[in-house]
Amino acid sequence: DKSEDVDTNTKDSEPATETLKKEEVIVIKFSHVVAEDTPKGQAANMFKELAEKYTDGRVEVEVFPNSQLYNDDDVLAAVQQNNVQLAAPSTSKVSKLFPQWTIFDFPFAFEDVASVQAAMESEEIGGKLFKMLTDQDLLGLAMWDNGFKQMTLDDHPLYMPEDFEGQQFRVMSSKVLEAQFESVDAVPTPMPFSEVYSALEQGVINGQENTLSNIYSKKFHEVQRYMTISNHGYLGYAVITNDKFWNGLPDNIREQLQKALNETTQWVRENGERLNQENLDKIIADDMLEEIHYLTNEQKQAWIDVMNVVYEEYEDEVGADLINAVKELRD
Ligand code: LMR
Repeated sequence: DKSEDVDTNTKDSEPATETLKKEEVIVIKFSHVVAEDTPKGQAANMFKELAEKYTDGRVEVEVFPNSQLYNDDDVLAAVQQNNVQLAAPSTSKVSKLFPQWTIFDFPFAFEDVASVQAAMESEEIGGKLFKMLTDQDLLGLAMWDNGFKQMTLDDHPLYMPEDFEGQQFRVMSSKVLEAQFESVDAVPTPMPFSEVYSALEQGVINGQENTLSNIYSKKFHEVQRYMTISNHGYLGYAVITNDKFWNGLPDNIREQLQKALNETTQWVRENGERLNQENLDKIIADDMLEEIHYLTNEQKQAWIDVMNVVYEEYEDEVGADLINAVKELRD
């Protein structure tokens, strides 16, 4: 008889419901803006897999890529309000709340990704930057690399500083990035990542700077004609949670999540550069650009000579101590 069956089922399921309550699943929403086939996109997915495995399913990570959930400008507020529990905005975007974080935006500040990693690991730079996040209920858990940015433009190739004159470039929301373009008489336009493709397509802007993985995965090379491999600036991410959420987790869960995060960070460190290189190969294979130019040493020096003014302009805002600590790493 049907009704008996239902009764039996209900009884059977009661203890199961009880257990489920005690062991309630903790949901972590992780919002980001890039495609999945990028260093950050892959890292977010890897973190999800490891976090769920190490916590035996007690934690469920929901990853929202491609600005599906939040845009660049809203995500930190969403973390503060616990609407999402993890985000990995670029350090440039963190500078909207914490101006010192713009230190990674200075032109030609870092020779390679290893120097950025050394900066993040130093007490004077990384230690200081991570500490200040707690002033606004945030907590920095890790730093993930993407890599170095390249320049693209529709109108003509970019060789010398003069070639930037009057051209409109999209920038992330960072004063130092605006200043970088102003130093070469270009017009910077801050804009969320999700709007860049259509702004380029419609000619609202003529150019942009980004890593090869972001350029390829968002098809910027299809709506631009020239790219200069300049490696002029670094792009990386602060993996950020909210202080209260993270410290309110059961200790064993937090430890397992940290372990998942550490392994993911190690993976990004070892693979970010490779992914960007593969994306350059794909851009070349696509053959949509008229020219890919590799900045010569003389041209690079000419860019440095002009862009250097940014360091003086932002010394007060970022702090001479931070700037000097970065310069010392380079010298
Ligand atoms: C951008 O806005 O260009 C980047 O921050 C996107 C990203 O997160 O890599």
